[in-house]
Amino acid sequence: MTRHFLELTDLSVAELDEVLRLGVAPIASLGCPLRGLGAALIFEKPSNRTRQSMEMAVVQLGGHPVYTRGEEVGFDTRETVEDVTRIMAGYHAVLAARVFDHRVVSRMAAVSAVPVVNMLSDHSHPLQALADTMTMLAEFGSLRDRSIAYVGDFNNVARSLSEACVMLGAHVHLGCPEGYEASDDDLARIDGLGAGTIVQTRDPVSAVAGADAVHTDTWTSMGQEMEKAERMEVFGRYQVNDGLLAAAGPNAIFMHCLPAYRGLEVSAEVIDGPRSRVFAQGHNRMHAARGLLAFLLADTDRTDLAR
Ligand code: CP
Ligand code: NVA
Repeated sequence: MTRHFLELTDLSVAELDEVLRLGVAPIASLGCPLRGLGAALIFEKPSNRTRQSMEMAVVQLGGHPVYTRGEEVGFDTRETVEDVTRIMAGYHAVLAARVFDHRVVSRMAAVSAVPVVNMLSDHSHPLQALADTMTMLAEFGSLRDRSIAYVGDFNNVARSLSEACVMLGAHVHLGCPEGYEASDDDLARIDGLGAGTIVQTRDPVSAVAGADAVHTDTWTSMGQEMEKAERMEVFGRYQVNDGLLAAAGPNAIFMHCLPAYRGLEVSAEVIDGPRSRVFAQGHNRMHAARGLLAFLLADTDRTDLAR
């Protein structure tokens, strides 16, 4: 069966553990599951980390990445998402896409003979959550009963991060303003994913109280630029700065998927200070991507793919 990775929850808890284990395993131990094979990386939005880390993960597994801009393939303008996917699945062992509308990666997965990976959609950013948890595991050993705070917009990054943390047994505390918070459905669903829990407050100080890690993300995600002025007003008191971090645990670390906007969602003192783990977190994107690709390709019949 072709496995896809559109959401963090496409993995069971045991499979998430396995992906994270593969991500930190020596590269040589993974073999070369992509030897002689391609990986299509389609981007409808800009990227630094995701493109670079996915390209290098493909290379480390013996394959060849083909970067393609969204306008080149023209999903549903030049040809349908399904036609693009069926053609590319004949060239590549894996298809990955960064899209505005999550339904595009779902439609790709519905017709693809090879794994489809979500490299960020309006709904979720599961590759980021793999790197986030890998970074926290390196710090804490285990996430079980750790307190993880996320302050700001309950967006794609926050959703996937929350899912991963609850699956690994952590207690997630969201601090999000009205209108930008997790829905009751999201909270109930995520709470049921594993041994951890999730709760939400509108007060950033109580969200971070006693936290082991404090996460945030941009207040204005790609595609939301028209809402920027309104968002600046709403999110003003949700900045992660030294004052807010004073309420967190004494050894709390700071995390951010990047790109970051100093002076908005995070102060320069925090992101450039000793609690920050953002560069290790960014570098872990490559290791996490390698683990995920090795996992997805483990059951693939490579003879067939190299036809
Ligand atoms: N964190 C992240 O996905 O970064 P890029 O947008 O640079 O890929
Ligand atoms: N939430 C951000 C993450 C960028 C990596 C966005 O979607 O633009």
